[in-house]
Amino acid sequence: MRCPQPPRALLLLPALLSLALLGVRVQRRLSGEPLDGPQGPDGPGAPNAPDGPGGPNGVLGRPGSQGRPGGPGRLGSHGRPDGPGAINMAAFQWRASSSSSSSSSSSVKATAKPPPPSRHPLQPPYPYPYRFLLNEPHKCRERAPFLVLLVATEPADTAGRAAIRQTWGNESSVPGVSILRLFLTGVHPVFGAPLRRVLEEESALHRDILQQDFLDTYNNLTLKTLMGMEWVSRHCPGAAYVLKADRDVFLNLAFLVGRLLQPQLPPKRDFMTGYIYRDTGPLRSKAYKWYVPRQVYPNDTYPPYCGGPAYVLSGDLAAKVYAVAQTLPLLNMEDSFVGVCLHALGLGVTSSPWGVFNMHRLPYDKCKFSRLVMVHHYQPEEVLSLWPHFQGANVTCPP
Ligand SMILES: *[C@@H]1O[C@H](CO)[C@@H](O)[C@H](O)[C@H]1NC(C)=O
Ligand SMILES: *[C@@H]1O[C@H](CO)[C@@H](O)[C@H](O)[C@H]1NC(C)=O
Ligand SMILES: *[C@@H]1O[C@H](CO)[C@@H](O)[C@H](O)[C@H]1NC(C)=O
Ligand SMILES: *[C@@H]1O[C@H](CO)[C@@H](O)[C@H](O)[C@H]1NC(C)=O
Repeated sequence: MRCPQPPRALLLLPALLSLALLGVRVQRRLSGEPLDGPQGPDGPGAPNAPDGPGGPNGVLGRPGSQGRPGGPGRLGSHGRPDGPGAINMAAFQWRASSSSSSSSSSSVKATAKPPPPSRHPLQPPYPYPYRFLLNEPHKCRERAPFLVLLVATEPADTAGRAAIRQTWGNESSVPGVSILRLFLTGVHPVFGAPLRRVLEEESALHRDILQQDFLDTYNNLTLKTLMGMEWVSRHCPGAAYVLKADRDVFLNLAFLVGRLLQPQLPPKRDFMTGYIYRDTGPLRSKAYKWYVPRQVYPNDTYPPYCGGPAYVLSGDLAAKVYAVAQTLPLLNMEDSFVGVCLHALGLGVTSSPWGVFNMHRLPYDKCKFSRLVMVHHYQPEEVLSLWPHFQGANVTCPP
């Protein structure tokens, strides 16, 4: 069958999406956020989010990497992070109920279990036996791919995944090189159940979705990355390289593979590259989407790390990152956390040639884009419209 029917559940998608939007509003109301508050640094214009090279707040350079309602109102309403009683948001009810149950049992100290070690709500629960709801355990049985492409997406983003499959996520876009693409996703915080069937159908059709049973939220992105590293380490240990990408990028795998990774050479080991942030530190203001409380990460600086929109690591390192993550407190910034893992492993990142990973949007230019790996802030729909031109032989670029 050359043209499979779109899965039936896909036809429900518009309705589900409007439900999802409603859900976000309900969620915001529950958490006491302003419904139409000012746009966060994530919003259009992003005046507070300079993501320039080497800026002191390098972690700012990730607006829009997950299109989640963010912004000052959201984090500002959390209350003091260090007063357990202050955290009473509906979204974090697990904490309120667990602390109330431990306080009610404090009168019977002799039999009560010790209270669980306190964890800030922004710190993803870990290690924790997250289960795969969708998995592809046999993909690497017959061949060890040269590159595993892990793309972080949200559960409802069917259209984004469809566009990515046809553009930079195309597994056969680099002749002679085995590329394996997998989308990473969690469970929608409100519409996990209705989206489940949609995802199952999409997964049955494309066999390229990994899903674990954690809530798919911005502050849980680290869990998504670690799911990808877990998959490589368990099911694809022979992969030469792993590329983790966000959805909102323009990626040129041919350049990455041909110029940077070079399949004709033996695969590098303990290797990681991307756009490197050095001497940056956590943002301590709750006004930011990228807020990291001291309880979650006490140091003032991060070890050097690669910006989250797209970074590459050797397959052996993916397994080591996954292993060492089991021993570390997690950080809600997934890219900084991978840097912390490398630091714990006694390893560092490798600089990439200048201009190859771009955290700023650049205007599309075929010849320029054919000599770089990544440009941030391109939505999948836009890449879809540019792709025929990018792939076409119309423009000849000077050597
Ligand atoms: C992927 O690329 C190959 C080679 O260019 C092309 O034949 C194929 O149609 C593409 N697949 C998709 C889903 O766009
Ligand atoms: C992260 O996922 C876990 C597991 O589903 C959930 O308990 C937690 O509330 C989520 N954290 C955030 C900040 O959404
Ligand atoms: C945090 O700071 C301590 C004390 O200076 C240092 O030993 C440790 O390596 C730092 N951790 C990271 C991840 O940079
Ligand atoms: C290639 O050039 C021709 C003639 O200039 C034009 O009609 C066509 O649309 C171009 N194709 C692409 C993919 O840009």
